[in-house]
Amino acid sequence: MQSFFDCAGIVGTGAMGRGIAQMAAQAGVRVWLLDAQPGAAEKAREALAKTWDGLVAKGKLSAADRDACLGRLQVAASAEDLKACDLVIEAIVERLEVKQGLFKQLEDIVAPDAVLVSNTSSLSITAIGAALRHPERFAGYHFFNPVPLMKVVEVIAGLKTDPAVCERLMGFTRAYGHTPVAAQDTPGFIVNHAGRGYGTEALRVVGERVADFATIDRILRDQVGFRLGPFELMDLTALDVSHPVMESIYHQYYEEPRYRPSVITAQRLAGGVVGKKVGEGFYRYVDGAAQVPA
Ligand code: NAI
Repeated sequence: MQSFFDCAGIVGTGAMGRGIAQMAAQAGVRVWLLDAQPGAAEKAREALAKTWDGLVAKGKLSAADRDACLGRLQVAASAEDLKACDLVIEAIVERLEVKQGLFKQLEDIVAPDAVLVSNTSSLSITAIGAALRHPERFAGYHFFNPVPLMKVVEVIAGLKTDPAVCERLMGFTRAYGHTPVAAQDTPGFIVNHAGRGYGTEALRVVGERVADFATIDRILRDQVGFRLGPFELMDLTALDVSHPVMESIYHQYYEEPRYRPSVITAQRLAGGVVGKKVGEGFYRYVDGAAQVPA
């Protein structure tokens, strides 16, 4: 496999960071895992070890490759540990000022030619990059959940991104078997813009009491042929991620009514009923299986 990067820092080791770390390690890249929450990066490393054990058990990965992948994963004690990384992928909370602060800090640590990318779902790449001294080495690199299964990765140039950075990311993405797609730096890029109505219209149907959420999911999954219904998808993504994305796209399009977020998801987010990762969203999860609440 052609080597595009030697060492990747993954900042934010939640649902997305873990999957991205898996891809990078499987592509032969050394990976540093960094998270603001104590113990989170260690937990991510343990979860990845289990994932690779599972692949070995299914005959999809050799035991030697599993050991090599695990050997490439290191837990960073602080951002300073990322100084040798030639790629840093950020997958932290979806807030512009927090992401900008992180990249400003990283710029002081990594080499001048290291590539910095954000997995943001909705924020402007140009706006994040505006906080950097060298926005030309910064791009959007947007994966989908679950990362190993969802093969499309959006590569987004901001106004000041060097096109060579995007070319390198496209090559890297192909090297581990995913499909890069160049997207414009517009709110939601391609997938979260084109697919916006899937969630917002379903929420309106529920809000207007036309049908309940489980019926909508069943129909769109079993009759229309989507892999997941809109509420199953919201539970998988989690509302603490997807509701701020809805708000961000709505505001960036100057309060265009068709992007208006739903009071239903706002209330559920306020109540902490955010999705599968906390055991309860639109569905309740018992041993990982969705149950419709009574
Ligand atoms: P998550 O909540 O599962 O994980 C985020 C992780 O980042 C947590 O472990 C948290 O402790 C850590 N974190 C937060 N602030 C930090 C900071 N300042 N420094 C270091 N670590 C920090 O979130 P998830 O779902 O992985 O999303 C992360 C990013 O990826 C967001 O920007 C989101 O919009 C984007 N995204 C999410 C998708 C999804 O389906 N969940 C899909 C594509 C993109």
